Amino acid sequence: YAGTGAGGLLAPSIITSCTNSVPKQSNTYRYPLQFPEKLDTDQLRASRGSLAIGEEYTLDGLHFNGSLPGPTVHVKKGERFQVQFHNDIGEESIIHWHGMIVPPDMDGHPKDVISEGRYSYDFNINQRAGTYWYHPHPHKITGPQVYRGLAGFFIVTDDEEEALNLPSGKYELPLVIQDRKIDDTGQIYYDPSMPERMMTGYLGEHILVNGIPNPYHEVQPRPYRLRLLNGSNARIYNIAFRNEHLFTVIGSDGGLLPKPVETTELLLAPGERADILVDFSKGFTGKSAELISRKFSISSDGGMMGGMAQLMGQEGPDQGSEFPLMEFRIGNEADSSTSVDLPQQLSNVNFPSRTDAVRKRTIELNMEMMRGHTINGRLFEMLRVDEEITQGDTEIWEFINNSPVPHPMHIHAVQFKVLNRSGNRGLIPTETGWKDTALVMPGERVRVIMTFNAPKGLYVFHCHNLEHEDAGMMANLEIT
Ligand code: C2O
Ligand code: CU
Repeated sequence: YAGTGAGGLLAPSIITSCTNSVPKQSNTYRYPLQFPEKLDTDQLRASRGSLAIGEEYTLDGLHFNGSLPGPTVHVKKGERFQVQFHNDIGEESIIHWHGMIVPPDMDGHPKDVISEGRYSYDFNINQRAGTYWYHPHPHKITGPQVYRGLAGFFIVTDDEEEALNLPSGKYELPLVIQDRKIDDTGQIYYDPSMPERMMTGYLGEHILVNGIPNPYHEVQPRPYRLRLLNGSNARIYNIAFRNEHLFTVIGSDGGLLPKPVETTELLLAPGERADILVDFSKGFTGKSAELISRKFSISSDGGMMGGMAQLMGQEGPDQGSEFPLMEFRIGNEADSSTSVDLPQQLSNVNFPSRTDAVRKRTIELNMEMMRGHTINGRLFEMLRVDEEITQGDTEIWEFINNSPVPHPMHIHAVQFKVLNRSGNRGLIPTETGWKDTALVMPGERVRVIMTFNAPKGLYVFHCHNLEHEDAGMMANLEIT
């Protein structure tokens, strides 16, 4: 990377040093995709170990039950979930079930960390079918723990979803996308510089899908369901196919959308999920469908904040470039069932209405010299209650991003509906459904509505750029 920002500006050296090169384009699609095993015990053990990644990389990392990604949890609405978390990694940790609405002591609040031994999780699955996930949540060290391997899928099914007969079994593919930095010896490493901690977050040049570098997967010419999770610490993807093929978004963070939405591209920020249907029998030439991240803009309206973001290398040379994720190799013959009949109405969503809202909160996101990213002017403190909420209340929160970098804001203990966003971007297809994480671009204001029905107690909300979170871009909410 030669140091020219978008628009050919020569960036000052401090700014150059916080940019990253575009993810690697060579040596792609050499390894077959793999899938994590199903979690079939009630034990989830985090431990250290070395894993080979493809033939050329190694990860001295952290794993759940020796697997990268961690084993996939499958549960059905109405079931009880019980697991013992064993912490054998030699530092503090605790698990958060991202997107799940569970009692406060089951939620992985950073105050509940254990440095060894076990923590018992036991909660009922009371919520909609969807693609959720789990990862550690210790204060200041969530970034390195997730980066080094601690994350897995948590998939909830229910009767409403089963009735749709969506592609399942080998036609339903959970895909977690993560970027990594790799040194000359092939070792994956985590070592954020000050600008990475304070500005962009930690961006890697190598893309792993389910722990495999730029893999390929053999598919049949028929529809598939892809459950996409951006499990990266900081990188935003603009999911697309190389040939601008249409795909259908059917779900987001909190499960099925009210209606299917067709698109050719979809932004996916850290922490977010997208459930999409793609039909490999149509429109792909050369028997190859390349899933890529397409160029996108991080400014909402090209205003001053967007301009600053360009200067900092977030756009153009970095986040804004096109690069490959993985390849689907399309076989010749489909088996019997080759089409999906999607109803016009996928799901009964029951969003709260604006007239139900009893309170509006403003959540300002600022970047401050020497302090980093703050929420309403403050950095995280373990037990300070930042927002007190009455159980059962419906509220509207407005996130205002006054900083030059994007912030994917995640709220625990709820699923929300994005109401609107300032600027030109509008709502993206996943935002027509239930969300727990919403991307707030530089200069944007994003309003969300939600009802706090979780059990009383202390939960957090934070930026899901994990370097921002670790540096203190997190706050407590208490449901009383
Ligand atoms: Cu996925 Cu509080 O995090
Ligand atoms: Cu952030």
